[in-house]
Amino acid sequence: MTRRPARRADRTHAPGSTGGAKQGRRARRVPVDTLHAGDNLPFMQRLPGGCCDLIYIDPPFFTGKARRHAGSGGSYADSRAGGLKRYLAFMHPRLLECHRLLARHGSLYVHVDWRVASYLRVMLDTIFGGANFLNEIIWHYRTGGSSKQWFGRKHDTILLYAKSAGRHRFNVLREGLYRTDGLKRDAAGRPYKSTKKGPLYFNAAGPALTDVWDIPFLSTVSRQRAGWPTQKPLALLERIVRASSQEGDLVADFFCGSGTALVASRRLRRRWLGSDLSAAAIRIAERRVREEGEVEMAKRE
Ligand SMILES: C[S@@+](CC[C@H](N)C(=O)[O-])C[C@H]1O[C@@H](n2cnc3c(N)ncnc32)[C@H](O)[C@@H]1O
Repeated sequence: MTRRPARRADRTHAPGSTGGAKQGRRARRVPVDTLHAGDNLPFMQRLPGGCCDLIYIDPPFFTGKARRHAGSGGSYADSRAGGLKRYLAFMHPRLLECHRLLARHGSLYVHVDWRVASYLRVMLDTIFGGANFLNEIIWHYRTGGSSKQWFGRKHDTILLYAKSAGRHRFNVLREGLYRTDGLKRDAAGRPYKSTKKGPLYFNAAGPALTDVWDIPFLSTVSRQRAGWPTQKPLALLERIVRASSQEGDLVADFFCGSGTALVASRRLRRRWLGSDLSAAAIRIAERRVREEGEVEMAKRE
């Protein structure tokens, strides 16, 4: 079942239509700004190759836990039935599809944790080629429990691959402050490093982001909470969308849950495409992107 929650004048996207590499003259147009409820594999298989500029997926983490949101009752089972072999057999055709669906300038972010990151890294290396691996991003947070047997597990792993490294979109993002203690300052008080070629000033926008991201996890009482148990913070998805796409690009999330990646994409004026097995998740995502549409329109008036 495919739903179209937001009104748009043109809700199709020609692969490569925002200035990237051409995907062939007779590129099929893809319906965008839509949500699909159901298994993502047949949905992905119906889409034309090269249609996505950016794909983010946050699949089940192989935790073996039933994930439930206390407030809304929203839930999904992150099953370990069949063991790791079955999990990897589930992921493999979907990762192959991600590779097929990416435009030549496209990138894939695969969000998992310590349980399966290393297995998926090997799988992705074989699908994308090791040379197209760009980053292992560590998303660090502080919330959650602690252990008396090991160090607190306080990060998720996000594997970033380009369809074709060197051709991929990438916008350097800057945040925070440089360490400038002990440096000389000019007459205006600006810190600089002395080099053979003269004073070297720092970028006023701050240092470029690294592959370790400190972003708070959504608290149980966060106003962003939409009722889906594994909802990710918008700040995380906005960073990903900003870094690896441009306005008008098509961003897809085939395990979209509450639709965080889609909301971030809409907010940043990208087109989006989402799917999830759970009809309840799709209803939440639909509400969230619709609300985002209203906010966007209100801002323009
Ligand atoms: C970790 S959650 C995604 C959370 C999402 N990033 C968010 O911010 O709300 C994983 C999602 O994958 C969905 N899922 C599991 N198997 C699926 C399948 N075969 N096809 C589509 N979605 C699936 C689950 O229903 C769940 O919503």
